[in-house]
Amino acid sequence: MDIISSCAEQLTPAGELHHLLTLDGLDRNTVAALLDRATAYLRPAGARPARDGALQDTTVANLFFEPSTRTRASFELAAKRMSADVLNLDVNTSSRIKGESILDTIYTLQAMQVDVFVIRDASAGVPAYIANHVQPHVSVLNAGEANLSHPTQGLLDILTIQQHNPDFESLAVTIIGDIAHSRVACSAVQGLRIMGTRDIRLVAPPGFEPDMANFPGTQFTHDIDSAIEGSDVVMALRVQKERIKEKSGLITNEQYLLKYGLTAERVRLAKPDAIVMHPGPMNRNVEITSEVADGAQSVIERQVTNGLAVRMAVLAAITESRKK
Ligand code: CP
Repeated sequence: MDIISSCAEQLTPAGELHHLLTLDGLDRNTVAALLDRATAYLRPAGARPARDGALQDTTVANLFFEPSTRTRASFELAAKRMSADVLNLDVNTSSRIKGESILDTIYTLQAMQVDVFVIRDASAGVPAYIANHVQPHVSVLNAGEANLSHPTQGLLDILTIQQHNPDFESLAVTIIGDIAHSRVACSAVQGLRIMGTRDIRLVAPPGFEPDMANFPGTQFTHDIDSAIEGSDVVMALRVQKERIKEKSGLITNEQYLLKYGLTAERVRLAKPDAIVMHPGPMNRNVEITSEVADGAQSVIERQVTNGLAVRMAVLAAITESRKK
């Protein structure tokens, strides 16, 4: 497939969100407005979920060419709670298995009046490629692209951090683990920088070091303990074994936990009120202990709740801009 690397314009000439392909290049007002919208969709546990009719007569298709629980389920629930028609294409029983190209799949669904494509794909550039080929009224939302971009994850992470402390400029944020393969880390760093955070620390084991070109404005170290010291936010990342080509040189799970795992002892190096984040799915007792994941400082389930609200906010924003 001929993948083009340039991003389609995400914003309309009036500056409104039409596609969401990356957080890179969005301004603080746009991100803050999405966080405000998402906050309005949050409800206390046990309360009736927020609903609105903003997506009435809109059709949303979820096309996930990689596995997902959180992102796929929350996009589906978000669209349904906003009154959209929702199509979840089962990729494994679709005609892509017979060799149909991704564009022919998109054109086929577009001919059935799909208005919004939610795309997860292992290859870099696929969401932008699709955005560059759909009809002008159709929106594309990136639900996870290679190791490069996961913008709604970035937004839900920023919202979760904002709930802890909205003074982004003052925060020290430490992101630990398999940074090399992490689209979550890319989008979190982009979001934090947009919001003004200057102290962003990256920690990875040898062999998992990031391409620093993807992480401007951050500091990298192998020294996990010194990085966590004094942090307001500590985010552990999943070891993405499915993206690691040469597995023979990998350290064992036990060694990983010992040297780079987020343990209670390490969390005590952060500020006393620091929050612990993980995008999920977790490899428990590899990159994070169960004691920490389920502990008082963990906001991992709050991240999931915020994810649904963020996806409702993004769907509302693109629908508003499409209707103008
Ligand atoms: N965080 C995240 O993207 O999780 P899923 O792969 O379950 O969607």
